[in-house]
Amino acid sequence: MNKTGFLIICLVVLSCNSVTKKQEVKNEKPLMYEPSEMALLMRQMYEVNKIAKSQIMGNDTLISFPENFTTIHSAVLTDSTDRDAEFNSLAEQFLNYQKSTFSSNSDSTVYYFNKSINTCISCHKTRCTGPIPKIKKLLIY
Ligand code: HEC
Repeated sequence: MNKTGFLIICLVVLSCNSVTKKQEVKNEKPLMYEPSEMALLMRQMYEVNKIAKSQIMGNDTLISFPENFTTIHSAVLTDSTDRDAEFNSLAEQFLNYQKSTFSSNSDSTVYYFNKSINTCISCHKTRCTGPIPKIKKLLIY
């Protein structure tokens, strides 16, 4: 597969549905699509939690809590109406569970990790459903 094909697949798998659909319908140079601050933060949150999962599974020492995750409260969204009261409270809950995950060093790590991931899913159920299947795969069973 060439590089362009690979990039398009990444966007389809990771983006919110609405964004993907718009690109397909209008067929406007999908690779020129500029992700919002929030989209970039979310991609990073996904990658960091993927690493954290493998560290937890391997009983390795966890990386420390990435302080820039707190910018979830201020990062510019593609659709600014996504930031409502529910968003703010889920964002706060998410940060608390993530802080607990990264600072715990015991049996409770998996508990807090899964609580964090379930908070990702709760928020996504109402505003950006596309990545839910990928996010679910982060859960530790
Ligand atoms: C408080 C709500 C909320 C939480 C918590 C949340 N998300 Fe998101 N997520 C969003 C919104 C809203 C968007 C759309 C952002 C935009 O386009 O500006 C988004 C977008 C994304 C995207 C698509 C980014 C792109 O390329 O367009 C991914 C992937 C993602 N989130 C993964 C995650 C993961 C993984 C977690 C948890 C570790 C998480 N999200 C937690 C609300 C949330």
